[in-house]
Amino acid sequence: MKQIRLSIIGFGVVGQGLAELLATKKDVLQHDFDLEVTLVSVANARHGFIYREQGLNIPTLLYLAAERQPLTKHPGVKHWANPLEGLRATGGDVLAEATGTNLHDAEPGISHIRAAMTQGMHVITANKGPAALAAQELFALARQHQVQWRMESTVMAGTPVISTVREGMAGANVHAIRGILNGTTNYILSAMASGRDYADVLAEAQSQGYAEADPTADVEGYDAVAKTLILAALVFGQTLKPEQVIRRGITTITKEQVQQAIDEEKRIKLIASLQTVSDNGATALEARVEPVALPLHDALARVDGVMNAITFQTDTLSEVTVIGPGAGRLQTGQGLLSDLISLIPFL
Ligand code: HSE
Repeated sequence: MKQIRLSIIGFGVVGQGLAELLATKKDVLQHDFDLEVTLVSVANARHGFIYREQGLNIPTLLYLAAERQPLTKHPGVKHWANPLEGLRATGGDVLAEATGTNLHDAEPGISHIRAAMTQGMHVITANKGPAALAAQELFALARQHQVQWRMESTVMAGTPVISTVREGMAGANVHAIRGILNGTTNYILSAMASGRDYADVLAEAQSQGYAEADPTADVEGYDAVAKTLILAALVFGQTLKPEQVIRRGITTITKEQVQQAIDEEKRIKLIASLQTVSDNGATALEARVEPVALPLHDALARVDGVMNAITFQTDTLSEVTVIGPGAGRLQTGQGLLSDLISLIPFL
């Protein structure tokens, strides 16, 4: 049986989603993948880092988190106030980095990832900041330390987008991407199309755990920008800065505009796009996030609610579209779970 000693840093919606899946899918991991995962450490910003050599009890952790009680109430743990110090002192085989996205400097996630790779741990992450702002640096660090870095759930949660384009479509030349990459805004726009009010629906998206901690990141398009930067790096090998993405959110979209689009047999969607364009003989990558009124015959126009979708335009496959959930506790946890399973050949 292969063994993974796992550390989860960031124990909010996403970290808890992964932990829950590790518990509910324990038998599947053992029988189908010959894999046993021992969760040895968990950290959150409020309670610091806890470690237990023999493994932590997941139901106990989920109970403590749900009751907003300190994780240190878990029996028999060692505690560090600073997660980075705890990680450096204890290590493991894999770090699941699930702290919140920070698009300014990618902290604290990027420091956790650097520390883990430097001490020889593979890293899986749902945190968009490090992948959006420092993909090249972190891939180089992973190569240097001969570890894997995977990030399936940074784009469209556990819906397989990154593995589809990088592995499933290996060798194809992708020349354009168009997608609905933010669940919260799609949820809001879809509900507005049924005549509901913006503020009510945003509150609903927050209560479902779809929205970012600061929902401005969703409604102003920054979350979709982060995913666009990740795709620019992973699919086109280009490092773009956030300000190089032409961005417009949905906050100025009125009920009247939504209704007018419906009258014209269109739907307004927040569309992220990347395409190679010729610029004075050189090829450049154009990146945009903006509301677009799509005609109903466009597959993306009919993707509603928290669902996301992405279309790749390629040389060998023409168009490939992937549709699936883009946010949520278990949906994002699933991306981390598949990343974890994909590490088996590297253990
Ligand atoms: N806030 C994000 C969304 C979560 O609504 O899509 C997933 O990245």
